[in-house]
Amino acid sequence: MSAESAGTIALPTGEEIAALGQGTWYLGEDPARRAQEIAALRLGVDLGMTVVDTAEMYGGGAAEELVGEALLGRREEIFLVSKVLPGHADRKGTVAACEASLRRLRTERLDLYLLHWRGRWPLEETLAGFTDLMAAGKIRHWGVSNLDVADMAELATLPGGDAVAVDQVLYNLSRRGIEWDLLPWCREAEVTVMAYSPIEQGRILQVEALGAVARTLGATPAQVALAWVLQQGVVAIPRSGSPDHVRQNRGAADLHLPTEALDTLDAAFPSPRGSTPLEML
Ligand SMILES: NC(=O)c1ccc[n+]([C@@H]2O[C@H](COP(=O)([O-])OP(=O)(O)OC[C@H]3O[C@@H](n4cnc5c(N)ncnc54)[C@H](OP(=O)(O)O)[C@@H]3O)[C@@H](O)[C@H]2O)c1
Repeated sequence: MSAESAGTIALPTGEEIAALGQGTWYLGEDPARRAQEIAALRLGVDLGMTVVDTAEMYGGGAAEELVGEALLGRREEIFLVSKVLPGHADRKGTVAACEASLRRLRTERLDLYLLHWRGRWPLEETLAGFTDLMAAGKIRHWGVSNLDVADMAELATLPGGDAVAVDQVLYNLSRRGIEWDLLPWCREAEVTVMAYSPIEQGRILQVEALGAVARTLGATPAQVALAWVLQQGVVAIPRSGSPDHVRQNRGAADLHLPTEALDTLDAAFPSPRGSTPLEML
């Protein structure tokens, strides 16, 4: 099966990536589920969910190994994202961590490499590591995760810091805080926003208003929650180890939420009324 378009969002360089991708947290940790998880990831790529997000942290490398196995021979079809742990994120540690991720992922380069969250190393150190990796052709873009406005503004003042491509943050119907300041900041600075836990790890799927909107549109709650993220112009990376759920999630890219649906969702999940610190999971 060839990849079908699921809609795209531009990186600051103008490169278009799939708006709907796939997460991998907790995948690769249970041998009994491995075959199904591999099938789910491969199906997602077949369906155009070609942004695949992983991290050295997930299962201590187990998720990266699963991705490496699942997508062997399909590297050119995907936009591969991984992350360096804050404790590894000095200049040399960033390079070493990336090289270890590349080995587990069975590839020679990442499309995007993120600082997982801000830790004890100065941002300059991580940036120097990213710059070394770019020069060596081991990563194509770099970015950050879980950085709020003040950290982003600081990063932008560093030499080369304005090349940050992505901020990956917690964003879904029940976590709308970024709409107050971080999302507008990123739009202004042309930093692409990637929403993690876009269905709140399943916790929002039972909310009655979401179910009501889904019934009206002939969709599922997960599809409505994902379509809502996509309609904000934000990349969504739902994780599923189930082919049925992956197929369902792909349907979100074809779902348009009309004004009445958006109003119902706004009433149940209000937008922020002021600045709140960035939440993380
Ligand atoms: N940068 C960071 O700090 C950070 C933090 C958290 C997550 N992430 C990334 O973002 C990805 C997504 O976030 P997440 O994994 O935390 O949560 P999520 O994608 O919001 O939710 C995942 C959960 O939802 C279930 N699910 C998926 N599709 C479903 C559907 N159609 N119907 C019902 N249940 C469904 C999955 O179970 P099944 O497997 O059974 O489908 C799983 O339990 C992660 O995997 C990771 O790659 C990044």
